[in-house]
Amino acid sequence: MTIIDGQKVAAEIKAELKAGISRLSAEGKGVPGLVAILVGENPASKIYVKSKANDCLETGMRSHVEKRGSDISEEELLDLIDYYNHNSEYDGILVQLPLPKHINEDRVIKKIRPEKDVDGFHPFNVGELVIGNETFFPCTPAGIQELLKYYKVQTSGKHVVVVGRSNIVGKPIANILVQKKEFANAVVTVCHSAAKDIAYYTRQADILIAAIGQPEFIKKEMVKEGAVVIDVGINRVEDKTKEKGYRVTGDVDFAGVSEVASMITPVPKGVGPMTRAMLLKNTYHAFLRKIK
Ligand code: GUN
Repeated sequence: MTIIDGQKVAAEIKAELKAGISRLSAEGKGVPGLVAILVGENPASKIYVKSKANDCLETGMRSHVEKRGSDISEEELLDLIDYYNHNSEYDGILVQLPLPKHINEDRVIKKIRPEKDVDGFHPFNVGELVIGNETFFPCTPAGIQELLKYYKVQTSGKHVVVVGRSNIVGKPIANILVQKKEFANAVVTVCHSAAKDIAYYTRQADILIAAIGQPEFIKKEMVKEGAVVIDVGINRVEDKTKEKGYRVTGDVDFAGVSEVASMITPVPKGVGPMTRAMLLKNTYHAFLRKIK
């Protein structure tokens, strides 16, 4: 049984990006820039944005965080995005989700210029992904594909079962892995909360991707012997023995499932670091496209 080391793979990708950035910068081409827009006080969002900004600095990118109160109007937020749409210092624009209820997320995502949409959430980029054209892939699905590639997991003709149908993970990973391409070409099933018997599907998976947001939902009995299990969950569960009062756990019961899986991603240090690395990679590619 192999524990997939997302932290190690992410570190290698970051080192490559750092070298590339340093080379281009020495040639006088400048450095990539990412602006992250953070609205409100969601504690998890604050941590994510801070880590993304730190990652940028670590790899030699420019990074800026625009913080706004949760009382910002939709109009003001759209104007702020438009300012960065036209600011050539920043190649990537990230609006951290979720947004306060009075702001229409869909309108916000559509405001970001597709060339700067390093989250890959704009319908233009989503359409390109579905068609199979080269585009920004959303970071978590991109990170999952990179891990499968790195660990030489065969996907062609294999049955991938995705649990969860979010726009950020479930739908895009299914659409990436179904493409007639290298590191894809899988038979993909997407199942979700309306399924009468989720285990019926998950037990058929050669590669099982859990992205449901429910702590330790996938149990040993739901997994086929030898399956590769990718855990996308980041759930906070109460734990009085911890200093913070909680611990972070995935969507997979790691202890149980590792007894049957051939490979498994841990939480933390599995998919999470890869998501962050892919954001840097997307920003780097946005920059390369600009300087070409
Ligand atoms: N909220 C949770 N995941 C993400 C992500 O990948 N990007 C953005 N912008 N917000 C998120």
